[in-house]
Amino acid sequence: CLLYFQVHISTVGHDEMRVTWITEDDAPAVVEYGMTSGQYPFSATGTTTSYSYLALYRSGNIHDAVVGPLKPSTTYYYRCSSDPSREFSFRTPPASLPFTFVVVGDLGQTGWTKSTLQHIAAADYDMLLLPGDLSYADFLQPRWDSYGRLVEPLASARPWMVTEGNHEIERIPLLEPRAFKAYNARWRVPYDAGDSPSGSNLYYSFDVAGGMVHVVMLGSYAGFEAGTAQHEWLRGDLARIDRGRTPFVVALVHAPWYNSNKAHQGEGDDMRDAMEALLRAARVDAVFAGHVHAYERFTRVYGGMEDQCGPVYVTIGDGGNREGLADEYIDPQPKTSVFREASFGHGRLQVVNATHALWTWHRNDDDQPVVADQVWITSLASNPDCNN
Ligand SMILES: [Fe+2]
Repeated sequence: CLLYFQVHISTVGHDEMRVTWITEDDAPAVVEYGMTSGQYPFSATGTTTSYSYLALYRSGNIHDAVVGPLKPSTTYYYRCSSDPSREFSFRTPPASLPFTFVVVGDLGQTGWTKSTLQHIAAADYDMLLLPGDLSYADFLQPRWDSYGRLVEPLASARPWMVTEGNHEIERIPLLEPRAFKAYNARWRVPYDAGDSPSGSNLYYSFDVAGGMVHVVMLGSYAGFEAGTAQHEWLRGDLARIDRGRTPFVVALVHAPWYNSNKAHQGEGDDMRDAMEALLRAARVDAVFAGHVHAYERFTRVYGGMEDQCGPVYVTIGDGGNREGLADEYIDPQPKTSVFREASFGHGRLQVVNATHALWTWHRNDDDQPVVADQVWITSLASNPDCNN
């Protein structure tokens, strides 16, 4: 009997999906799939890797295979390594608007996490975006495995697109000098796909909804100053966007560039100073961050000031980490900070049409699915004052 688990999927290009799974034993890196349960007319073969950590831990066989081309808005049934005992299914994202993202950072694997995952699963969505701090393994590698099992029911059914947080670094001088060893092995992102491949698993971008939304996943823990590979890549990536065809552009990053919580105060400032002008010039509509274990929404900001052509900034680092909430705020609340609260929850970005997206924050500690904060975000591409 073949044991496999920790299945998750991520989009590759506009019509493919990467399936990632782990087996304890040697097994083929094969995904069989089709549009009817129990029937798998298609198959794809990928690659297998593994890693060891501190000589004490050796991972299972980490397989991934890219399936496709796939039809949009279609449910596919699949199995991994030809194991007949477990069938999974996923639904491909739509190739047009509307499009619904779940956004949740600093997820962890606590009771709070389980509550958040239940709230996420209670309503439909097309894709999950995670701005860093996934498992909180914090050097204890079996925690990566328990995290993979915890998120499997959701992450095997909808694409989970992630970028790295500080808890993914797991570097130990001399003993484990290679940062992101587990993260890169387990959570491979499509950095080599699409029109602007980044060449690094730590930052990348992709389009959804037939190119109506461009998503930029930045790396807080890769070089970001002018002249670095990430900065050069970001400049080129943003320059490629035709806002006539792509009305919404959003970015994710781990350490927030705007933050009035006392936790991690100022940690994102250097990256903001290096990259903020690029994002404003490209009229990026919104930036979502994690790291601070709380929720906060800013108005449109640039250079620390309200700016109608700058992005809306949101901290959504309240997924359910094991360190607790960050509930101390700087007083008085800055004028640019519209809403802030230290509670667990998740966010949703529903891009309704080419001009309007609805952002909602779903707090966990409500019996009913209460929306604790919401705002309509209008595309900056549709604002003539920002396009002269
Ligand atoms: Fe963090």
